[in-house]
Amino acid sequence: MKIGTPLSPSATRVMLLGAGELGKEVVIALQRLGVEVIAVDRYANAPGQQVAHRAHVINMADGAALRALIAQERPHFVVPEIEAIATDSLVQIEQEGLANVIPTARAAQLTMNREGIRRLAAETLQIATSPYCFAESLAELQAAIDGGCERVRTEPSGTHRRTPSGWIGYPCIVKPVMSSSGKGQSKVDGPADVKTAWDYAASGGRIDKGKVIVEGFIDFDYEITLLTVRALGVSGQVETQFCEPIGHVQVKGDYVESWQPQAMSTAALAQARDIAKRVTDNLGGRGLFGVELFVKGDQVWFSEVSPRPHDTGMVTMCTQAQNEFELHARAILGLPVDTSLRAPGASAVIYGDVEAEGIAFEGVAAALSVPQSEVRLFGKPVSFERRRMGVALANGKDTEEARSRAKLAASRVKPVKE
Ligand SMILES: Nc1ncnc2c1ncn2[C@@H]1O[C@H](COP(=O)(O)OP(=O)(O)OP(=O)(O)O)[C@@H](O)[C@H]1O
Ligand SMILES: [Mg+2]
Repeated sequence: MKIGTPLSPSATRVMLLGAGELGKEVVIALQRLGVEVIAVDRYANAPGQQVAHRAHVINMADGAALRALIAQERPHFVVPEIEAIATDSLVQIEQEGLANVIPTARAAQLTMNREGIRRLAAETLQIATSPYCFAESLAELQAAIDGGCERVRTEPSGTHRRTPSGWIGYPCIVKPVMSSSGKGQSKVDGPADVKTAWDYAASGGRIDKGKVIVEGFIDFDYEITLLTVRALGVSGQVETQFCEPIGHVQVKGDYVESWQPQAMSTAALAQARDIAKRVTDNLGGRGLFGVELFVKGDQVWFSEVSPRPHDTGMVTMCTQAQNEFELHARAILGLPVDTSLRAPGASAVIYGDVEAEGIAFEGVAAALSVPQSEVRLFGKPVSFERRRMGVALANGKDTEEARSRAKLAASRVKPVKE
């Protein structure tokens, strides 16, 4: 593995597709290794663009525009940071050997749509998930909740078998097949909520496909993100390593607080790792993955996976020797990784609160007077009430102390209109 000199013909070039707060940290990690970084987003001055060598604004769902930009910039590695990308073009680009897509174009394609990854995990890999059906109309949604659906299962022998899905019933969760951060997602407690959930999903989907997934509600004790890294080991082969599990709290499908390590039983942790290994082995390539799992006692269900750093993993900026962004950068470049925990810690989200351009943040000094705390402000040009504008991080003797410190620090940062 050789790394060249940025802005020279020998440069090692990485293009990030999506340059939000997670992309920004990946850019910083790559910059530290002397990589030339190109940050792409749908709007100008996105967080990651502010720290990259070059920035481009394009519609990444437009395959032709994406291809043209890759042909112009000739990156060695293309690193998707968001899901809404013309993944068909990425598949072609990878096939033609134009660039190396991280972790693989297929992984980006399967995870941009809930249907792809759910069918892979549940139907191909036979991993435990919530019972689920897909629906393309209100009537189909109601029928799925009332009576489940039929699924075609491919046996290892190659034969197809029709099997009934598990019972869904109430409560259940309805989500657009293409959405993230809980957009368009709702919990349905009874028949009266079904139409509202359908209408909300139809309006909240990122690309309106008019299709939803309905999942039986899992009454979990806690949920985790298991950061899983596929990186070259000393053997020169890809090896899988796990970070300590990250616990988190979600409000309306959006993460508000996370901590590491999350205490787990030995059996649940072993099962979580086994599931993460099977899913990431199938997706392949090199890079860091965020495997989302629900846990009840010793039982573990797979929920979904990001083939890239995960928002709940921002906590690793204060807990690990190498944070999730550094791990991703190293894995991409074919360098060795170390997933070890340094100290227990927590993260708490700082929301925009106000709707305005060019806002200011008061109370940062007060926030940073909380012991062992840090604040990251993402530098997003526009603020919305529920937009994630920053995050507070804190360490402590245990995750409980770290959580209260992170929440206190976050609460002291006050976004205001200028
Ligand atoms: N079947 C389920 N049973 C119980 N809770 C669920 C279920 N599905 C989702 N949730 C809750 O909603 C959260 C968000 O769901 P999910 O991860 O599928 O949505 P998302 O829009 O992809 O969110 P993100 O992009 O933030 O990961 C989960 O982390 C969990 O707290
Ligand atoms: Mg999720």
